[in-house]
Amino acid sequence: MSVELDQIVPWGRTGDEYSRMFALTPADLASGILDCGGGPASFTAEATAAGHAVVAVDPIYAAPAAIIRSRFEEVADSMLSQVRATPADWVWTYHRDPDALLARRRKALERFLEDYAAGLAAKRYQVAALPSLPFGTGSFGIALCSHLLFLYSDLLDETFHVRAALELFRVAREVRIFPLLNLRRQASPHVDSVRAAVAASGGSSEILSVDYELQRGGNRMLRLFRTSDSGSVIS
Ligand SMILES: C[S@@+](CC[C@H](N)C(=O)[O-])C[C@H]1O[C@@H](n2cnc3c(N)ncnc32)[C@H](O)[C@@H]1O
Repeated sequence: MSVELDQIVPWGRTGDEYSRMFALTPADLASGILDCGGGPASFTAEATAAGHAVVAVDPIYAAPAAIIRSRFEEVADSMLSQVRATPADWVWTYHRDPDALLARRRKALERFLEDYAAGLAAKRYQVAALPSLPFGTGSFGIALCSHLLFLYSDLLDETFHVRAALELFRVAREVRIFPLLNLRRQASPHVDSVRAAVAASGGSSEILSVDYELQRGGNRMLRLFRTSDSGSVIS
């Protein structure tokens, strides 16, 4: 059995989780970041407080804070029950146990909500949705996409994945996507199509192991980059 969701859940991660999932270096953080499908993650709030230029986009940013909080609360119990029912599917090292996981998700939500009103006014939270983004070519150094593309491969088809990845690669010099597994912990069938489309458009890609694993086996990130840019030193 595995976690089954009939919608994309508003479940957010912390800045430290983003740093690990995406192997972010100080230079990466200084490059100008887009968090696509940022949801109630606290990465943007934390990185902004640390002085970095970050913009997050998500269709849920059309909703007021109270609605985002209530959507989180609506799914929290069922998410935790499903995680508890599938103990072999998860790695409990970074998160000690399911309760610690929920506590960290709540912490991320609260940190995000503290920043939400000011962030909307400052346009660091913007309402937008893949596969079409309201930014010019090369607007960002790196576009991050966490727990949307590939994870929801059963909901979002190959055409969507290819269009979305190419759009991210248009607005940013580099793209990082995590994880590469779907909700059933299977390798996403769309990774190869995305890599082929990026290669056909003159870009390069590589898959990197990273220092974050919650879904068992889900510790790999896809990096899309310009061939003219230097290769990765991440391992
Ligand atoms: C599981 S949450 C992940 C949030 C955050 N990236 C993280 O990892 O903590 C997925 C997010 O993707 C957003 N989303 C759904 N469809 C989207 C689309 N077409 N473009 C951008 N974001 C989308 C959802 O609203 C939700 O907030």
